[in-house]
Amino acid sequence: MNNTSHKLASYVDSLRPIIYINHFDFHATDLLIKEIATTANVYEYNDAGGHVDFDTKISKSNFDLETFLSAFDNNESGESFLVLKDIHFYLDNPKVIALLKSIAFKNLYKDNFYTTIFIVASQLIIPAELDKFITVFEVPIPNINQIRGIIQQFLQDLQFDMTDNVIEELALSFKGLSEFEIIQILNLAYQQGGYIDTNDKQLIIEEKEQIIKKSGTLEILNFKETLDDVGGLDNLKSWLTQKAKIFNNLDQAIKFGVDIPKGIMLIGMPGCGKSLVAKATSHLFEVPLLRLDIGKLLGKYVGESEENLSRAIRIAEAVSPCILWIDEIEKAFAGIGESGGASDVTTRLFGNILTWIQDKENTVFIVATSNDISKLPAEFLRKGRFDELFFVDFPNGDERKKIFEIHLKRRNKWNRMIDIISLLKETDGYSGADIEAVVKETIENVFLDPEKDTVTTDDLLAVIKTTKCLSESLKDKIDKIRKSLSKMNVKPASEKKKNNP
Ligand SMILES: Nc1ncnc2c1ncn2[C@@H]1O[C@H](COP(=O)(O)OP(=O)(O)OP(=O)(O)O)[C@@H](O)[C@H]1O
Ligand SMILES: [Mg+2]
Repeated sequence: MNNTSHKLASYVDSLRPIIYINHFDFHATDLLIKEIATTANVYEYNDAGGHVDFDTKISKSNFDLETFLSAFDNNESGESFLVLKDIHFYLDNPKVIALLKSIAFKNLYKDNFYTTIFIVASQLIIPAELDKFITVFEVPIPNINQIRGIIQQFLQDLQFDMTDNVIEELALSFKGLSEFEIIQILNLAYQQGGYIDTNDKQLIIEEKEQIIKKSGTLEILNFKETLDDVGGLDNLKSWLTQKAKIFNNLDQAIKFGVDIPKGIMLIGMPGCGKSLVAKATSHLFEVPLLRLDIGKLLGKYVGESEENLSRAIRIAEAVSPCILWIDEIEKAFAGIGESGGASDVTTRLFGNILTWIQDKENTVFIVATSNDISKLPAEFLRKGRFDELFFVDFPNGDERKKIFEIHLKRRNKWNRMIDIISLLKETDGYSGADIEAVVKETIENVFLDPEKDTVTTDDLLAVIKTTKCLSESLKDKIDKIRKSLSKMNVKPASEKKKNNP
């Protein structure tokens, strides 16, 4: 018996009369119940077949639930397990409740009456009348050792071989899925290719996407951006590339004793690539990207927001390795610590997030982005929370050159005649977003001009002349950001400025 079946058996032995197994995988729960039913007879009820044989699922009699329960209400024929599947729809029926209560009561107090009820359902509905009798049993998801075992068993059944390294890598990606889901993916992978290898990680990611979509608190994002789409920010890029090597070899890294990267905070100027980098980390780390919107966590009932956060964290952990992106974090947590600055709920959420980041030992890599850290409480930025804080400034000359190239090439309008160097003098203080806007507008102008078919330096210069860049239009805000950053120990995301005309 493993830990899970042991725990379930101990509930039965201690006369818990109704055990509610909140799980969708009936195959897994059947195996579990069978394992502990050493001396008990098992009787199953489900809506499709009425009373069915627990082993064969062949219908024995097409009773409705009430009739089925009534038959067992007077059962003194030794130890019995009643397995009631997906009956949560009936848990508002007074007769059903009364029968469940009566059987539970007899199990507790009547001699020679040993009937334990198992409700197995994918939804947890506990009527107030049964609250005292019900024990909720959560089937834990398999740990890494168990996942290895599942994969090995699968291979053995198919008489199929796989190197230890591939097993290890798949096992890590499977973390967070149930046994049922793992076997389904293995089956699918095997059927599709006739073999299973690390390329099948994509199937695992898709399955995990399903879990997140159902969660409602997190969003899974699919961006095609890679670090090649980011112009400049070389310090940041090489730091991330290093951490990616750890994430891409998590198993070996952990065995070697490398600390798992916790996360990064990107602070800085608007439109300069913070969100872009967050998106690109997903490809770089080869893991799913989840976005946490703090605003969406806020609920109207007491404790609801905290529960939402803890659910989001549980899902992120289940889906890990993954990236958890918290964009514009200052908007959610502005004013904490100042009197009257933030609501109690926000303050509590903030505290919970801090504790989680501080203590976490999982493979959820956090990417937090923010413009204005003067509004963020200082605790958030203290060392130990994030592995590193990076400051993303307006691009220097070299970086602007690369950004121009990236956006022109993306739109197939890059040509050797374009003299980008001569654009740099005119674009000091431009953000990446400004440059992108210039490129877009120029291409549009050229398209609409019947005389023209290629983009020239002059076309770009003409648009630059009429554009007001962000650093000008947001001058006050930007001065404030710089001032708040001057007191902080943050690393520049770009290499030392050079070639800035
Ligand atoms: N360094 C860069 N390289 C290439 N493109 C860039 C760069 N910085 C910005 N851009 C372009 O500008 C767009 C907006 O940038 P992004 O959303 O990353 O800015 P941000 O730093 O998150 O700004 P904000 O603080 O306003 O959220 C990007 O999608 C990209 O097209
Ligand atoms: Mg952004």
